Amino acid sequence: MPDPVVVTKDLKKYFSSRSGPVQAVDGVDLEVFPGEIFGFLGPNGAGKTTTLRILTTLAKADSGTATIAGFDVSREPGKVRRNIGYVGQAGGADRPATGRENLILQGRLYDMTPQQAKDRAAELITALDLGEFADRIAHTYSGGQLRRLDVALGIMHRPKVLFLDEPTTGLDPQNRANLWVQIEKLRDMGVTVFLTTHYLEEADALSDRLAIMDHGRIVAEGTPVELKKQVAGDTISVGLRDDSRNEAIATLLGQRPYVRDFTLDDCRLRIVVEEGSKVMPDLLRLFDQEGIEIATITLAVPTLDDVFLNKTGRTLRDTESAGGGQ
Ligand SMILES: Nc1ncnc2c1ncn2[C@@H]1O[C@H](COP(=O)(O)OP(=O)(O)OP(=O)(O)O)[C@@H](O)[C@H]1O
Ligand SMILES: [Mg+2]
Repeated sequence: MPDPVVVTKDLKKYFSSRSGPVQAVDGVDLEVFPGEIFGFLGPNGAGKTTTLRILTTLAKADSGTATIAGFDVSREPGKVRRNIGYVGQAGGADRPATGRENLILQGRLYDMTPQQAKDRAAELITALDLGEFADRIAHTYSGGQLRRLDVALGIMHRPKVLFLDEPTTGLDPQNRANLWVQIEKLRDMGVTVFLTTHYLEEADALSDRLAIMDHGRIVAEGTPVELKKQVAGDTISVGLRDDSRNEAIATLLGQRPYVRDFTLDDCRLRIVVEEGSKVMPDLLRLFDQEGIEIATITLAVPTLDDVFLNKTGRTLRDTESAGGGQ
């Protein structure tokens, strides 16, 4: 395994508020490896942006350390900045100029010659499919187009790590999918991408690895598959034609080694197993042999929301509706 490109150790940041101190970041340990898409998932107020601001040298931690590409964020902020790109929650394009002009300006800000900036802009416009709108004034762009320009701006100077704070918030599903493709292209170009999101599906589909944050702490970390494997397992829900055989069913399930848990309530049977798709045929055969009639059967695999529920006792969807907006 190569050395991690982002490392944090016991990172903490507190804010004072009228209702007392807010532990925005409360002891965060992270490692992000070169070339991966690292997702940072958590509800509103979890501390994602605050962590990102510390990593990008825009805020100072109260304690703990963080290094990017081997440079300490508080002692060597200049070197850190040269190695990172950052696209904040609000984005950074200059609206009265075209996308291409924005890119060239960004290159010039990073000490490129006019020719280097022009060439790099052209390269990114092609690589990231911005050609359709690159020569229009940015204030005519759709939300999705602006976001895609922001991402290109973030990697103009070839940073090792690109930080994206909620890159797809507010985009419709199609624009979101477009941006996912663009972010995957960045990975193919060798850029490490560290992105925050409060969309479960996004973290699941896009991240090579992810951390789930809640109240300033990392509550779970791993690949999406690993994390989902940690929780209860797959759930097979069976609707029975009648409840006359419930005792026999309970005995049969109790003897099956792959059944982790089950509940039987009138005609509703819920069975928790390790790998639902593998054991489904055996279960169906068993019911058939015993003459147990089934009305419906469905298989549900765990989502990252189950992981969050398992770790915090709340669901991300609940915290979303209770959490307010951006
Ligand atoms: N400058 C500040 N002053 C006081 N409190 C702050 C400040 N910045 C953030 N906080 C608080 O710190 C906590 C973490 O905020 P942060 O913006 O890091 O969360 P987030 O995970 O990015 O949330 P969101 O999904 O809404 O963007 C919140 O309770 C927030 O109110
Ligand atoms: Mg935020």
